[in-house]
Amino acid sequence: MSAVCLLLLFLCSTSLTGPAGAGKVLMMGPSGSHWLNLVYLAEGLVSKGHDVVSLVPSNLYDNQLKVLNTPTRRKIHLERFEVPLEGDFFDSMIDLQVQLSLGDNENQSVLDFTWTFAYEAFKITTSSPIGVEECEVLVFDEKLISKLQQMNFDILIIDPAMTCGNIVARLLNIPLVIMQAPHIMPGFLEYATQAPVPIATFYSFRTDFTQRLKNLFWHCFAGALMSAYTSRFGPIASRALGYKTTILELMAEADLFLMRGEFIMHPPHPAMPNMVYIGGYHVQNINPLPKDLERFLEESGDAGVVVLSFGSYAKVMGRRKAEMLAAGLAKVPFKVIWKFQGQRPKNTGKNTLILDWIPQNDLLAHPKTRLFITHCGINAVYEAMFHGVPMVRVPAFAEQHGNSNNLETLGTGVTLDIFTMTSDDLYEAIMEVANNKTYKSNAVRLAQLQQDQPQSPMDRAVWWIEHVIRHGGLPHLKSAARHLSLLQYHLLDVVALLCMAVVAAGLFLWLCCRCCCRVLCGKKTAAKQKQQ
Ligand SMILES: *[C@@H]1O[C@H](CO)[C@@H](O)[C@H](O)[C@H]1NC(C)=O
Ligand SMILES: *[C@@H]1O[C@H](CO)[C@@H](O)[C@H](O)[C@H]1NC(C)=O
Repeated sequence: MSAVCLLLLFLCSTSLTGPAGAGKVLMMGPSGSHWLNLVYLAEGLVSKGHDVVSLVPSNLYDNQLKVLNTPTRRKIHLERFEVPLEGDFFDSMIDLQVQLSLGDNENQSVLDFTWTFAYEAFKITTSSPIGVEECEVLVFDEKLISKLQQMNFDILIIDPAMTCGNIVARLLNIPLVIMQAPHIMPGFLEYATQAPVPIATFYSFRTDFTQRLKNLFWHCFAGALMSAYTSRFGPIASRALGYKTTILELMAEADLFLMRGEFIMHPPHPAMPNMVYIGGYHVQNINPLPKDLERFLEESGDAGVVVLSFGSYAKVMGRRKAEMLAAGLAKVPFKVIWKFQGQRPKNTGKNTLILDWIPQNDLLAHPKTRLFITHCGINAVYEAMFHGVPMVRVPAFAEQHGNSNNLETLGTGVTLDIFTMTSDDLYEAIMEVANNKTYKSNAVRLAQLQQDQPQSPMDRAVWWIEHVIRHGGLPHLKSAARHLSLLQYHLLDVVALLCMAVVAAGLFLWLCCRCCCRVLCGKKTAAKQKQQ
């Protein structure tokens, strides 16, 4: 009897608070670092026993699938769908930025970059068929959609650049989780969560007039770009779902926003309860280094090793730029590990080991790693921050300038300008960061802050996803304001009524006064007339 009671109690308690069992998770994202971010998250989910399926367009390059290279990652199932297009919208946007910033465009300034990028980006955004046609193929593929429906997924996790995912969530009628970097889609996040997004894409701490002007420019530019792009999906969504809607409205129905940020590198700002900050969620899994790499690090002795990586896109770096970096690196009295996929520069120094792939997080965690030269992509920055490694920052594009500026304020290294830097600048920056202890001690302080949390960011992400699965969505955490129009939200209708009431009351009073005056004055004149 008591055993039955215990069993019942156990069943009740697990159904209320226990793990979600093996959840069935569907995942959708574009290529590049955004795809990798989803893979990191999937890794966390798979290791907690969940089934993860990634819906992958056939134009996601095979080399993107190479990252599925660990036993855990290989457990991510792929569900591919045919897209009659070559290339990838997201890749073309990134390639454009990389070519502009890392290519050999002589004498290019930030201003040139900005205008060329703004112009080209708008062209791609408003006219490229990739992304949009991919979405049409997907949502009107009845066989695929019904197959997905029969697979009974508990939840869909998307990267916001996979705009189509918002439609798929409604077609499958399952809860939606959007995982994104803060500041990336300002207008959307603001509407969807009703939490104000700071106009501080580039400069977040103390800002002067020109910095605020730049912030405003990028804020509006990013908003306009995203509106232009997502507005092309509205008609597809309406046709697929059978009612008139927009991507903005669909995003506002998301149950959870996993924010790839935290409040050390970015200053605090208001957030809604369904915005969960998981910055650095991918960094705590540290694996031993491959033997030859470990030996290379050990051989560096007390001097230590400098690691340089400009991320996965740096393969299109121009030859002159690569030679400039190689010359700077050759001069330093340290060993150097350089992640570079292009052709090996002729002037590469004897101290420099060039690899087309590095276990970056494991390398940064290694005690021999002295400093990190980075483009300030958000994942790279979190890895360095988490392991307390000072940086030489060379921001190139997107939110990298913002990350770099914030880190500058926090004093964890020095910044170089990708457009004007010389090999001497690189050498001097490396020597300064390696020899001045201030940078290291600031970096260690940030690492201690970041590691001091009740729960690791990955555990937090997984808990929240399980929470959504257990309850079939979190409607109670969605902002009620999403149902209000701008006019209603700002109470303009109520204000209008109150104004009318005040005006009416004023008018009434004025009329009363006038009447009284007339009557009184009338009496006075009558009295005067009588006297006369
Ligand atoms: C770049 O600037 C240098 C020095 O200011 C000048 O000599 C060179 O001709 C310029 N190159 C181009 C392509 O404009
Ligand atoms: C070390 O760097 C800090 C921060 O940039 C600077 O204030 C300080 O003067 C530097 N110390 C030396 C010895 O150069």
